[in-house]
Parts: sequence; C-alpha cells; structure tokens
Amino acid sequence: MIKKNTTLGEFIIENQSSFQYSSGELSKLINAIRLAAKVVNHEVNKAGLIDIIGNAGDINIQGEDQQKLDVLANDKFIQTLKNREIVCGIASEEEDDFISINSSDNKNQNKYIVLIDPLDGSSNIDVNVSVGTIFSIYRRVTPLGTTVTLEDFLQPGREQIAAGYIVYGTSTMLVYTTGDGVNGFTLNPALGTFYLSHPNMEFPESGMIYSINEGNYVHFPQGVKDYIKYCQKEEGDRPYTSRYIGSLVSDFHRNMIKGGIYLYPKSSVAAEGKLRLLYECNPMAFIAEQAKGKASDGFRAILDIKPTELHQRIPFFCGSRKMVEKAEEFMQGK
Ligand code: AHG
Ligand code: MN
Ligand code: MN
Ligand code: MN
Repeated sequence: MIKKNTTLGEFIIENQSSFQYSSGELSKLINAIRLAAKVVNHEVNKAGLIDIIGNAGDINIQGEDQQKLDVLANDKFIQTLKNREIVCGIASEEEDDFISINSSDNKNQNKYIVLIDPLDGSSNIDVNVSVGTIFSIYRRVTPLGTTVTLEDFLQPGREQIAAGYIVYGTSTMLVYTTGDGVNGFTLNPALGTFYLSHPNMEFPESGMIYSINEGNYVHFPQGVKDYIKYCQKEEGDRPYTSRYIGSLVSDFHRNMIKGGIYLYPKSSVAAEGKLRLLYECNPMAFIAEQAKGKASDGFRAILDIKPTELHQRIPFFCGSRKMVEKAEEFMQGK
C-alpha cells in the first residue's frame, strides 16, 4: 500500500525489495539522480538572477545552440553519477560520445548505465517557462568490470530497468517508474525533500488535448495533416484543445494528468523528426506504457525499436492510448 506524503527517500527503500536483482545498486542510483535533480532545480530557480541564461556559445552534437543551462545541467548530472561511482557508463544528449566510468580501483563492478537529456525544453529557459530533465537506466550487456561499449547503449527501450523525468515547473516534480507503475513526487523547496504527491499515475484512456508544433504543418506527412484536421473537426467530443509548450517533459506531464496526445512527426525538412530515441522517446515511452498510455512512431511501438545510433531521431506519437491508436490509423492510411 502506497502512503501519500511518503518521502522519495523512504519510497526508494520500501520498494527496493521488489527489484528483480535487488542489491541496493539501483536504489543508490535513483538516490543520486534525486540529489542531482535538487542541485539543478536550485540553479534553474536562480535563472535571471545570475548569469546562467542564454547561449553557452557552442553547438552540440545535435546541431543545436547549447544553452548555459544545458551545459550546467549536463555537468551536474554527470559529476554526481561519476563521484558516487554507481554507474559504469553515461550517454547524454549534450555529449558527442558515451562516457565510460572507471572506479578508483579501476575495477568498476557496477551493472547500470544511464542515458540523460539533462535539460529538456532549452528554448523555454530565457522566458521562464517550464523545463525538465529525462533519464533512462539499463543493465549493461557487456561483462562486469570491462569498459562499456556502444552495444550497452543501443538496447531497445523494452530493456529499460527504470526511467523518469523531473519537471521544473510551478512546483518541481520527479516522476519515475521501475516497471511497476508510475509515481510522482513533489519537491518541498523549504525542506529540500520530495514527497509522494501523485501515486499510481495513469493516462486517461482518451482525452481532449493534442500537442504538436503546428507551425510545421506544410512539412508534415499527409497522415499527420489529416489527423490534425480530425482533431479540429466539430463532431462527437471534438474539436480538441491545442496545447504546446515546446518542452516534451511539460507537454507529456500535462497530457498524462489531463488526457491527451503529443506528436512530433517526421517532416519534409526533418526526415526522422527531431526527438532523440535514446534520451527522449524511449524513457517517455516506458513511462507512458507503465501509465497505461501508448508510444509509437506511427507504425510500431517505440520500445520495440532496436537503436542503431547513439543520437538517433525518431517520429514520436505518445499519450492516451485511444488517441495514439487513432493517430496511427491516420498514419497507416486506414
Ligand atoms: P531539448 O531542449 O532537450 O533539445 O529538447 C527540445 C525538444 C522537446 O523538448 C520539445 O518538445 C521539442 O524539442 C520542441 O521542438 P520544436 O521547437 O521544433 O517544436
Ligand atoms: Mn537540445
Ligand atoms: Mn529534450
Ligand atoms: Mn536537452
């Protein structure tokens, strides 16, 4: 029985025994993410007061202008995980290549790797709109004690052990799953403690919100254009409401609570869409399925896709199950 107002620390300990190979390692890892989240939250809250908004001056591997907070969040998460020597490898949206972590005795026996989107929704930083962090955890496939390889990071999303996000919003929340449902914790900033505020989160089966960057309409495939027109049609419970923040974490979070669909399709200017399979789509798809929602590239479940590249992009349709199924019907010309 999940009690409300349990702290995240208590929750992690109470649920440790339910993990398949419980050695405490995963609990320690989630604790480290909890700590890094608090540090990043503290920095994000100061944006505008100290010089951490705006461009960092570099272009990242994704071809995007790196923001100062992208760099800061990336450094804080990586440093926290490295210092605690609890993972054997990390991959990040902001790093060209994956990072192999050696312990002080050079015999890293840790079995987990972490993939992160340290700061999601970069374009919202300068205008004080919600941003987030997304994380994903896998068990390595190469032998313990050896250097991690690309193979460890290119596992289908179905293999995830845990995934979650932090939304730095009107309040800061950490939402995560270890494959046994989804729970949300809200930060009490005065105490620096996350409390269980949203136990057993679930997407409504259907909803009234569609979230897509409609400015790209002319570039979308016909199936997406037709689905948008379907959402806008006056029939049954439609037209739906359009809501798009431009921060996947925030758009997803709202849609999970209220019922809705998020779409980032491919287009004539972005052959595979924009969102990254490893750092964005897989973790959100795992959370969505655990919350009785659905995530697809329009044709297949995101979690069944075998990644081929670290920074691979993929079209993304995610949210309330019936809405994603309807969008798939349009994509498949049914
Ligand atoms: P990031 O800030 O991590 O690079 O991710 C931005 C992503 C995602 O959060 C958001 O939904 C999407 O890009 C917005 O893209 P558009 O501005 O093209 O709509
Ligand atoms: Mn980015
Ligand atoms: Mn992102
Ligand atoms: Mn990012």
